[in-house]
Amino acid sequence: MDGPKGGWDMEERRNSKPRKRSMLIAIATVILVAALITVVIVVIHQNNQEKDNIPAQIGTIPPPIIWSPPVYPSPYVSPPTISPPTISPPTISPPTISPPTISPSVPPPTVSPSVPPPVTSPVVSATIVMACDTALYRNVCISTLSSYPGASHANLTQLAGIAVELCLDEAKKAYEFVGNLRAQSVNKSDQNALKDCVDLLKDTGDQLNSSLSTLTHLSSGSFQSEIGDIQTWVSAALTNPATCIDGLQEVNANMVPVIKAKTENVTEYMSNALAVINKLSET
Ligand SMILES: *[C@@H]1O[C@H](CO)[C@@H](O)[C@H](O)[C@H]1NC(C)=O
Ligand SMILES: *[C@@H]1O[C@H](CO)[C@@H](O)[C@H](O)[C@H]1NC(C)=O
Ligand SMILES: *[C@@H]1O[C@H](CO)[C@@H](O)[C@H](O)[C@H]1NC(C)=O
Ligand SMILES: *[C@@H]1O[C@H](CO)[C@@H](O)[C@H](O)[C@H]1NC(C)=O
Repeated sequence: MDGPKGGWDMEERRNSKPRKRSMLIAIATVILVAALITVVIVVIHQNNQEKDNIPAQIGTIPPPIIWSPPVYPSPYVSPPTISPPTISPPTISPPTISPPTISPSVPPPTVSPSVPPPVTSPVVSATIVMACDTALYRNVCISTLSSYPGASHANLTQLAGIAVELCLDEAKKAYEFVGNLRAQSVNKSDQNALKDCVDLLKDTGDQLNSSLSTLTHLSSGSFQSEIGDIQTWVSAALTNPATCIDGLQEVNANMVPVIKAKTENVTEYMSNALAVINKLSET
């Protein structure tokens, strides 16, 4: 009969359903348990690996990992707790601010270029450079000659005259200084030593005066002999400050430094003047 058969069929179907369901549940349970075990093993394994890397943070991490087995990313989400260290690098950026502070140090070099203008204001002629060619104090020679009015257009003879005039100015200053020192001195031997220096500086002025006078009246016929006289006078004048200082050294060495400083310019200028005169003698 259709009914019972169908009923049986229906019953069988009804009976088979629970059976299939229980079997499915059993299989699902087995799979689930297996999956759980696998996941737990995997998590423990990863946890152990993390222990090696980040021991300090493990205590807080394990709970979320156990409950998020299917969610594998979770172990990789934990690294965000490592990100704080990546925030510290910004604190390293301040050092990168220091480089800008190095750039301010670059301007000074641009300030030094502003120094040359004062140097270029006196015109350094080729004749001046040539005249100072063999000077012992070459830079002083060039700068002092260049600073003299009209020197940029002067020929070698005129430059020799300018060089001697510069010596005269400095010799006069030294002469006056030593004369005042002698007047203030209370020690008889100091006074005598300073008197010698005054005489030596007076001689220097005379020798430079004669040299300048001859230089400005050079005659083409006796040029070499006149230049020879000038060389003799300036050479003698050049030794005078040293002779003065030697005398002071024997009497009172305390006076030497100040006299040396006061005669340094005239000594250098005379050395330079002699170099220019020697150049002139070669023409
Ligand atoms: C330099 O110039 C002066 C004046 O013009 C002149 O008498 C003298 O001969 C010149 N000296 C030289 C070396 O050219
Ligand atoms: C003067 O100088 C001489 C030599 O240096 C020294 O022996 C003497 O004590 C000095 N006298 C005075 C008053 O300074
Ligand atoms: C050098 O000569 C000038 C002018 O001819 C003169 O005024 C000066 O006193 C002289 N200097 C010396 C140290 O003789
Ligand atoms: C020497 O010359 C320099 C440059 O002209 C100057 O500044 C200095 O005062 C001079 N020294 C003396 C003792 O006159």
